[in-house]
Amino acid sequence: MDLFEYQAKELFAEYGVPVPKDKVASTPAEAREITAAFAAQGSPQVVVKAQVKTGGRGKAGGVKLADGPTEAYQKAERILGMDIKGHTVHKVLIAEATDIKAEYYLSFLLDRANRTFMSICSVEGGMEIEEVAHSNPDAIARIPVSPLAGVDHATAMEIIRAGRIPEEAAEQAAMLAERLWAMFTDEDATLVEVNPMVLTPDGRVLALDGKVTLDDNAAFRQERERFADAGSTDPLEARAKARHLNYVKLDGQVGIIGNGAGLVMSTLDVVAYAGESFGGIRPANFLDIGGGASAEVMASGLEIVLSDPSVKAVFVNVFGGITACDAVANGIVSAFSMLAERGEHVDRPIVVRLDGNNAAEGRRILTEASLPDVEQVDTMDGAARRAAELAAAKGA
Ligand SMILES: Nc1ncnc2c1ncn2[C@@H]1O[C@H](COP(=O)(O)OP(=O)(O)OP(=O)(O)O)[C@@H](O)[C@H]1O
Ligand SMILES: [Mg+2]
Repeated sequence: MDLFEYQAKELFAEYGVPVPKDKVASTPAEAREITAAFAAQGSPQVVVKAQVKTGGRGKAGGVKLADGPTEAYQKAERILGMDIKGHTVHKVLIAEATDIKAEYYLSFLLDRANRTFMSICSVEGGMEIEEVAHSNPDAIARIPVSPLAGVDHATAMEIIRAGRIPEEAAEQAAMLAERLWAMFTDEDATLVEVNPMVLTPDGRVLALDGKVTLDDNAAFRQERERFADAGSTDPLEARAKARHLNYVKLDGQVGIIGNGAGLVMSTLDVVAYAGESFGGIRPANFLDIGGGASAEVMASGLEIVLSDPSVKAVFVNVFGGITACDAVANGIVSAFSMLAERGEHVDRPIVVRLDGNNAAEGRRILTEASLPDVEQVDTMDGAARRAAELAAAKGA
């Protein structure tokens, strides 16, 4: 889960990472009021910053300096509603303008390739780190961080020195790094990035921008309700999540339900491949109902997949393992009656492929139930082809 800059800065402040005074506004009038309040405290200059979960906001015109409440109103009016790389701006952050002597870069992240954590630090901040990596690779220090040892003051100093942060900023930058690491671990983040981390003419070091990615796998042990972002999650994905289903919306026409992430991934591939023969039919979603595949879960899965209007046909691909095919077949049959009880009408063709443990019995159960609109195909490739064909016939 990615956070907005204002949320990242909220966390920074909680962990003692220095940030400029700021407040979020959803309307130009709010932007004006906030700036007026800042002005009353002696800082009339603010930066109006688009809150979208993507970088390059500055270059897109989404970060503007404003001198006083009236200008803040005008800048907010221009930025709110703006589209930045496909993200609509619904909120702006009003941040006290900071005098900048130098801009640096600092981050902690999970380095999957090397199976460790890593800190990246550079005296060249402000621009995207990928650009610096390209134009001036020597200016970037990459330091592995042991999860066991963590980042104490000495390690933080090593990181800051490796990034060639000048002596006048080093002590404070190291303190910032230590606190940022505490936040990284306590919040179960996979990325915390400060770009720019700035030095002010009066010698303070502050985080002017913040990017944070939290590890969704750790959500169960964190309090994250306050970061929920209903506006930017797909409504179907949100409904699926509420039912604990592992669902990802895609943009094709064949709804996919399978048991096991690996099987579902390869199902997406075979459907996309088969779909090429039918004018580019593609999978409409990823949905892994897991090893158990109970009737309840199958019913919820079918309901979610069928509530996507772009789905023209569904492919249920099950490989019986510990949960044998007869149990899954009974699950499908009960799922149909459950859906009927909920007043849901299965109005699109469903292709089922059952294989693996006790497949013959599973197929017999399904045949006997003779559910409307359900056909069985014994092979995965054959079933994918049939589902693509049916979807194409229904007209995309
Ligand atoms: N509070 C502030 N006071 C003064 N300058 C600021 C402030 N916040 C941001 N800036 C300036 O605006 C630049 C861009 O802001 P920021 O880094 O937050 O956005 P960004 O989305 O990363 O933009 P880009 O990718 O275009 O740099 C910063 O590098 C800094 O120079
Ligand atoms: Mg930035």
